[in-house]
Amino acid sequence: HPARELLHCLSLRLGNSSSIAELVYTRHNSSFSSVLKSSAQNFRFTTPSTPTPLAIVTPLHASHIQATVYCCRKLGVQVRTRSGGHDYEGLSYTTTYKVPFLVIDLVNLRSVQVNVEKATTWVESGATIGELYYEILLKSRTLTFPAGVGHTVGLGGHLSGGGYGSLHRKYGLAADNVIDARLIDVKGRILDRKSMGEDLFWAIRGGGGASFGIVLAWKLKLVPVPANVTACRVTRTLEQNATKLVHRWQYIAHKLHKDIHMGIAISRVTSSEDEKMMVRADFSFVFLGSIHELVPLMEEKFPELGLVKADCFEMSWAESNLYLEHFPIGVPLETLIDRSSKSPISKMFFKAKSDFVKQPIPETGFEGLWGKFHEEEAKSAVMQLVAYGGKMDEIPETETPFPHRAGNLYIIMYLVNWEEEENINSEKFMGWIRRVYNYMTPFVSKSPREAYINYRDIEIGTNKINNDKGSYAQARIWGLKYFKNNFNRLVHVKTKVDPENFFRNEQSIPPLPCLL
Ligand code: FDA
Repeated sequence: HPARELLHCLSLRLGNSSSIAELVYTRHNSSFSSVLKSSAQNFRFTTPSTPTPLAIVTPLHASHIQATVYCCRKLGVQVRTRSGGHDYEGLSYTTTYKVPFLVIDLVNLRSVQVNVEKATTWVESGATIGELYYEILLKSRTLTFPAGVGHTVGLGGHLSGGGYGSLHRKYGLAADNVIDARLIDVKGRILDRKSMGEDLFWAIRGGGGASFGIVLAWKLKLVPVPANVTACRVTRTLEQNATKLVHRWQYIAHKLHKDIHMGIAISRVTSSEDEKMMVRADFSFVFLGSIHELVPLMEEKFPELGLVKADCFEMSWAESNLYLEHFPIGVPLETLIDRSSKSPISKMFFKAKSDFVKQPIPETGFEGLWGKFHEEEAKSAVMQLVAYGGKMDEIPETETPFPHRAGNLYIIMYLVNWEEEENINSEKFMGWIRRVYNYMTPFVSKSPREAYINYRDIEIGTNKINNDKGSYAQARIWGLKYFKNNFNRLVHVKTKVDPENFFRNEQSIPPLPCLL
């Protein structure tokens, strides 16, 4: 019985440890299901038909991970590492392969040590970005870390896949600001930047950590921000000229000063007065300065939008992330560290996809898209456009595995979500997002059609089931989309550090047998 063998192996490796009960949850444990669901963000992968692991290990110490890796290798059990559980396809806690697997959940490894004098932080992978922002804010209001929006997102997945937020135009991605890391490799060794070497250190900053080992902790470079920043939101419906504004935004947002972050969320609402369906665009800003500076700046650069002081609020940069998450102004700061507080963008049944835009989309292109938003399945769909440019244009494509740099005006994320009782008809919603994605083909990046690994989408391709050595040709299909030419370097690193392909999943980098 694989679970029993696993427990036996773990208890031998961990010594006569009574802590096994504290660390390991098998399917017989009454808390198994709640622990498994605890951080799972996409409810599509928490249904009774979702394959579950033999066990969940919740390590308290690196040695617990080393023991788990040893036992899983010995018994041929696959490992899924989970930090914050936000993987869009649930790859950190389930698998479509019919194989025995185990989840290492880093929820207990979440310390954050901030060094204000040196402007650095050591943070364990199981911490959330909200916890990171909060701990930094407690020590300094004028330092922070340039990561994403979504306070429950885990650092393990976020940093190893890239990570952008409202500071990427000024400071680059979260992964661009990592200066050291500690990783447990397939042999159970703990490696830092020096001992892992620059190739592996390069790979885990954007190439997805899950292919290479288990990242325990990261050393991050903190960046300066003003004590107060300005956050604003302007909403315009189609009747209020949204098509022209979204179209115009494409020519402006990526060229604005690096201190301005600008995104658009497109969704559908029903008017409470006459029940009329409306497509609307919410323009949001975070500006590293005051309201008095921003409003005249936008009057000059984007007068059509009509930004006024009343649309804007000043707050700390950490709080501006809660604002972007749609929490109300004045929500307690502790929301950042509250893993159970749900924002409108978390914990739901959903399917998402991504695109990169290099040429402005014509107005007619958007008009066709609005038609899709009028379809029934789009009742709570959202399309998010976030401007790139600035520092993102200055970092070479090869600097990290994340290749979507100069030449990209903005990134798009499409997301469709539905209620629990509608999950039986999930294909209907999945069909909608596929139709939108097809419709967008002429307007977005081509050869390859690029995608963002942190917005994981297994419909762009997967590895073959149980192909021990992986298949380069199969993986290239999705690999070029996420990494462009960096894919080949990732394959070389993988071949060097994990030639037997122990750390693998549906979209892990394959080793190349002929290179051994
Ligand atoms: P999770 O634990 O599910 O892991 C994701 C992947 O990384 C899995 O393959 C997993 O095995 C691997 N992994 C996790 N920890 C690891 C470790 N320690 N070592 C090795 N591999 C590890 N993105 C963005 O760039 N900007 C944003 O603003 C947002 N906002 C956002 C909001 C919400 C609500 C969601 C659901 C998602 C986002 N994202 C995002 C996407 C997010 O960056 C992406 O899903 C991350 O991979 C999530 O990291 P977690 O650790 O939470 O995921």
